[in-house]
Amino acid sequence: MKVELLSGACGAEITGIDLRDISNDNIKIIKDLLFEHKVIFFRNQGITHQEQIDLSKCFGPIEKHAYVKGLPAYPEILRIVKEPFEKNNWGENWHSDVSYNPEPTLAVILKSVEIPPIGGDTMFANMELAWETLDEKIKNKVRDKKALHSSLGVAFFIDNYKGMEARDTNLGEYSNEHPIVRTHPETGKKILYVNWTYTKSIIGMDKKESDDLLTKIFKHQERLELTCRFKWTKNAVAIWDNRSVIHYAIADYFPNRGLEHRRIMDRIAVRGEKPF
Ligand code: SIN
Repeated sequence: MKVELLSGACGAEITGIDLRDISNDNIKIIKDLLFEHKVIFFRNQGITHQEQIDLSKCFGPIEKHAYVKGLPAYPEILRIVKEPFEKNNWGENWHSDVSYNPEPTLAVILKSVEIPPIGGDTMFANMELAWETLDEKIKNKVRDKKALHSSLGVAFFIDNYKGMEARDTNLGEYSNEHPIVRTHPETGKKILYVNWTYTKSIIGMDKKESDDLLTKIFKHQERLELTCRFKWTKNAVAIWDNRSVIHYAIADYFPNRGLEHRRIMDRIAVRGEKPF
């Protein structure tokens, strides 16, 4: 096995591991790598839909997205589609997946199916490092506080991404409160748990103070020093610990720049625990 770090902050590309091998020993190696690097990448993994599902189940029960339909034959798999004519990319701002849920996603297993020849990389930022390096005065203000995370509603997911279909649901926008600094259940590490896309306010603070603090925190957590960037190739798999990183799918599909290509990713999310 070979482990190549993507940056000094997080992310490692692993070679010499077959993701079809879901023996206890192999899964233990993969989980240890995940907890150490927060996001791990594997290229040339020709895994089938069923093999991706079997691998994901080794991390916990599979989570269905509240608003978006899975593949007809494999509802566990949410197919992320950016059509050639679209300029939007699902997940195109910093976020932690479904942080608005009561028990947000534990991990995501994302496989590239079709990728543009250029553009469409994904960035990740290490939120343990973000907490460690956050200004002490801000830390003291938020350490025991909760924040409100809101889902934005079905229209956000469907209107922006034409290649994807809504689940048949009347579920509107909903919110949940989570600690601003959460504890990783496996490693005990402290994690900064807010994100620009879904975190709306700090509970128990007036609007101005909450907005000012969140603006400073978002700016800090998005510092490039905390990030790594992955350039996709076909049949690559990323596994990220959704508690420990935020991520950003870069929508660099500008008009008249020859980027009118399709990007397709198969995403499986593993259900997480209530943040504490
Ligand atoms: C996501 O934000 O969940 C997807 C990331 C990607 O497509 O690169």
